[in-house]
Amino acid sequence: MAFSKWPFLKKIKTNHEKNNQITIIPEHVAIIMDGNGRWARQQGLPRIAGHKQGMDNVKRIVEVANAYQIKILTLYAFSTENWKRPEKEVNYLMKLPHDFLKVYLPDLIKENVKVEMIGHFEQLPSHTKKSIQHAIDQTKNNTGLILNIAMNYGGRSELVEVAKSIAGDVQNNKVKIDQIDEKLINDRLFTGHLPDPDLLIRTSGEIRLSNFLLWQLAYTEFWFTDTYWPSFSRHEFEEALQAYQQRKRRFGGL
Ligand code: FPP
Repeated sequence: MAFSKWPFLKKIKTNHEKNNQITIIPEHVAIIMDGNGRWARQQGLPRIAGHKQGMDNVKRIVEVANAYQIKILTLYAFSTENWKRPEKEVNYLMKLPHDFLKVYLPDLIKENVKVEMIGHFEQLPSHTKKSIQHAIDQTKNNTGLILNIAMNYGGRSELVEVAKSIAGDVQNNKVKIDQIDEKLINDRLFTGHLPDPDLLIRTSGEIRLSNFLLWQLAYTEFWFTDTYWPSFSRHEFEEALQAYQQRKRRFGGL
């Protein structure tokens, strides 16, 4: 449309663009994708339909993260506590990496996305491990967005493992007690090679961490929304990014 014919339209568009400008981009965004079950109930569907819809939304949100050149997107897909759910639901959740990658891996490869995983890998069923390992291998040389899937992840058990590993090294005289510092602990986390998240988003109206990245979120900016994960849209992701750039991060300083 020729805006010169409709000057008021041009003005609206320009203001809109200006107001929505996102210039300060978080390097690492972590998301607690909550509300799949409630979304399904709202639609009169079984809970697993919510997880399926949530899985498809992962791809949409990866595209937005990629568009904004976010470097790392860490998604909480299954916690160490989620094993307590009914067996049928656990089995479905364990099948999701396969279902997701079967449909979307070719796109992820094309979009230069690198798939990684944090969590207790060995305890996953072998079919889940196989799908995840395949995606990691296929994308290991990609240099774009790191899609970091937290699967069988728990912040406390992660710290317990770090404690055990350091204690073992102290016992074997590989590490002296006064060499234990924040860096040593950090390096042994699942995320040891990654910077801490700059922004944490949690959907569905719950305002808690649920054992997610307890060490890593020490100075992260939090953003919460009532929207259920399957309905969390590009627009709302942009709202979170806009909120993030208004924050004054001081990391304990002035
Ligand atoms: C929490 O919602 C969500 C989960 C436990 C599963 C999240 C998984 C996905 C969104 C898909 C994962 C995708 C890949 C690629 C592995 P909930 O079920 O607790 O919701 P509720 O609180 O409403 O019951």
